[in-house]
Amino acid sequence: MARKKIIAGNWKMNKTPSEAVALVEELKPLVANEDVDVVFCVPAIDIVPVVEAAKGTNIQVGAENMYFEESGAYTGEISPPNMLVDAGVKYVVLGHSERREYFGETNEDVNKKILKAFEHGITPIMCCGETLQQREQGVTMDFIRQQVKVGFQGVTADQAKTAVIAYEPIWAIGTGKTATTEQAEEVCAGIRACIAEVYDEATAEAIRIQYGGSVNAATAPELFAQADIDGGLVGGASLKADFGKIVNYK
Ligand code: PGA
Repeated sequence: MARKKIIAGNWKMNKTPSEAVALVEELKPLVANEDVDVVFCVPAIDIVPVVEAAKGTNIQVGAENMYFEESGAYTGEISPPNMLVDAGVKYVVLGHSERREYFGETNEDVNKKILKAFEHGITPIMCCGETLQQREQGVTMDFIRQQVKVGFQGVTADQAKTAVIAYEPIWAIGTGKTATTEQAEEVCAGIRACIAEVYDEATAEAIRIQYGGSVNAATAPELFAQADIDGGLVGGASLKADFGKIVNYK
């Protein structure tokens, strides 16, 4: 069975609650494509108004992060079951390179969060990707395999089948420098092979793997046509009308 494409916007630390509602209103008609899964991953403070504004549309709402505990004395953190699920969140971006770089998240932290997300029926979008130095040193796949293997420790095959992995080369994020289609497909195929090794062919066939890093309306069609690229995680271009073109890339 063909995998359904999943095209997710990652708003990062942009848009106030009122701006967020205005953006959803603007994008609603432009992203109305039932052939793909459309997800808006938004700042925590925007989740409630965005869920409300997206009611009755094909837009699903995701968080950009969460904590791996359920409640308690964790000032400033967001609880998956009590807050995200209750608010109507379906997806959560975990292990984005910005969280790893600026907030010290490790593969082990990401693993705990992935397990917790699954426990509460939230689909994780786990990010992985190499630095430019790692690419030049020829260790891209070794590095990513470690991120995937540790990130998915303890995840069952049935859970992994529903997961999303976003391959985002760090050197391509927010730089305007998209990986070439060949580079993106090569790594996404490598991630699928890694999943087949850890689990089995059926799991590898089911899991969805996105490419992210300066995706725009011009580059999306060729990227998303690759055998192992099941959509995209889109930063900058998800904040404008261009996102409609990306969602309707065909
Ligand atoms: P970008 O961000 O599309 O602005 O490069 C992608 C991401 O960080 O998810």
